[in-house]
Amino acid sequence: MAIQDNQQIEIGSPYNLAVKAAYELWREQHLSRELPRLSDLLVYIDDPYQLSDVEKKAIVSRCDNFNMVIYQLNNPEIQDKSLVHALGKQLSLVNLDANLRSDEDSVSSLEVRNQAGNQYIPYTNKALSWHTDGYYNYLDKQIYGIVMHCVRPAASGGVNSLLNPEHVYIKLRDANPAYIEALIHPEAMTIPANVEAGKVIREAQTGPVFIVKDNGRLHMRFSARKRNIVWRDTEETTNAVAMINALMADENNVFKVALKAGQGIVCNNVLHNRTAFTDGDGSGRLVYRARYYDAVASNEK
Ligand SMILES: [Fe+2]
Repeated sequence: MAIQDNQQIEIGSPYNLAVKAAYELWREQHLSRELPRLSDLLVYIDDPYQLSDVEKKAIVSRCDNFNMVIYQLNNPEIQDKSLVHALGKQLSLVNLDANLRSDEDSVSSLEVRNQAGNQYIPYTNKALSWHTDGYYNYLDKQIYGIVMHCVRPAASGGVNSLLNPEHVYIKLRDANPAYIEALIHPEAMTIPANVEAGKVIREAQTGPVFIVKDNGRLHMRFSARKRNIVWRDTEETTNAVAMINALMADENNVFKVALKAGQGIVCNNVLHNRTAFTDGDGSGRLVYRARYYDAVASNEK
């Protein structure tokens, strides 16, 4: 083990900055997966309550390779919210994060609604800037897996862009390993306390951007928001964050999808955003979202 800024990163890990061989090998494998197309990621599912072995393997292998999968229910009429729990469970996604606006079953119904108190953008039709989910959570309550299921798309807009953090890591490390050092620093990024009606409902959270998990996989805490994020005041941190923003802004780096009814995303909390959308006259865009303290089942770890 080598301790890099409080993170124990094994000697054989590609994320160990002191040992280049493992990184070079891992990098080679990943560069060919840099920008997946929909055909690389799409898996058709007959019954979300009972995946076939083939369907499950297809999902797991895509998450191993790309950290994400797009699934399509062959029958989009299957819409009961319980499908989210059922699907997640079959992919080792069990421990749900309950957030302030989630429903009683800890699955959020993302749709335009009237909100009391602080206005949370996911429940509006506004654009959502780049982030990983739960970047403001306590470090021992990080979100490693997400299921998002589209019941109804918007009349227009509501497009998600997705970017695998592993590729951000590669681009940053190739540009300057000091960027990685800056982003694994335990004080790289601070989210100020969340105060609602004068009451602190979550204390300030300070932590790294890149976290190498116990299973050796990479996790990323990130938000592109200009306000409410305090970055560690070093030149490397500033430049690294600017480079992440530039990578996300480059359309050549990101996978885009406008989920249709019956489609969903399962991912290891990759970077993502959402464009603004417009609802039609009838029922508006509805997406179920579940966040987990678990990562998607893997054949690798
Ligand atoms: Fe999100």
